Amino acid sequence: MDGNGRWAKKRGMPRQMGHRAGAETFRTIATYCADIGIKYFTVYAFSTENWKRPQDEVDALMNLFRKYLREAADTMSQRGVAVRVIGDLSGLPDDLKAQIAENDTIADQLGPDAAVANLCINYGARDEIKNAVQAICREIQVGKLRVEDITEGCIAKHLYTAHMPDPDLIIRPSGEMRTSNFLLWQSAYSEYYFTDVLWPDFTTADMDAALDDFNHRQRRYGGI
Ligand code: IPE
Ligand code: MG
Repeated sequence: MDGNGRWAKKRGMPRQMGHRAGAETFRTIATYCADIGIKYFTVYAFSTENWKRPQDEVDALMNLFRKYLREAADTMSQRGVAVRVIGDLSGLPDDLKAQIAENDTIADQLGPDAAVANLCINYGARDEIKNAVQAICREIQVGKLRVEDITEGCIAKHLYTAHMPDPDLIIRPSGEMRTSNFLLWQSAYSEYYFTDVLWPDFTTADMDAALDDFNHRQRRYGGI
């Protein structure tokens, strides 16, 4: 969800207003994806590196997560969209952790057929892989796992995304042409789509354009 700050700056507004507008876009696009049958929609909301930002911006973002997750807890069942959080939750404020646990409970109640919108908060792909390596090593230490058991599938099962398939399509808005530590393991064969549109301006028509582009790709997964 990139470009919130630039969107606000263009309008002479504080960056926080851009984040607020971006959060609205998240709600619109997450609902749209569920409506058109996309089972998993995952957005990068806050990276393990974003703590470097000024404290007031970090606080504003945490407040937005509080607000949207609380609201999602009320509306999830009506819309049939399960909102979950992916990332190192241990680094988040206690009340936010409690809110995320509540969202998880409701998401579980919705059952396996519900569409899922994942918010990546305090997420970094390298951090995720490091945590997976540590977890695997601990299992080896206690004899739960043998070195030969470390397959690609085993590693995938120790990532935050264990319960879902790899992404088919990754969209990066705002004109940046990099992945910025997003789903590095999972994106091995993902299709990328880059657009100059700033995230707060991203509409359902932009989503359709990305999907249309995706539908014309030939995916060979290393074959011919
Ligand atoms: C939102 O966009 C991404 C978040 C970290 C919430 P940015 O805040 O990175 O916006 P730009 O890149 O400064 O425009
Ligand atoms: Mg940015």
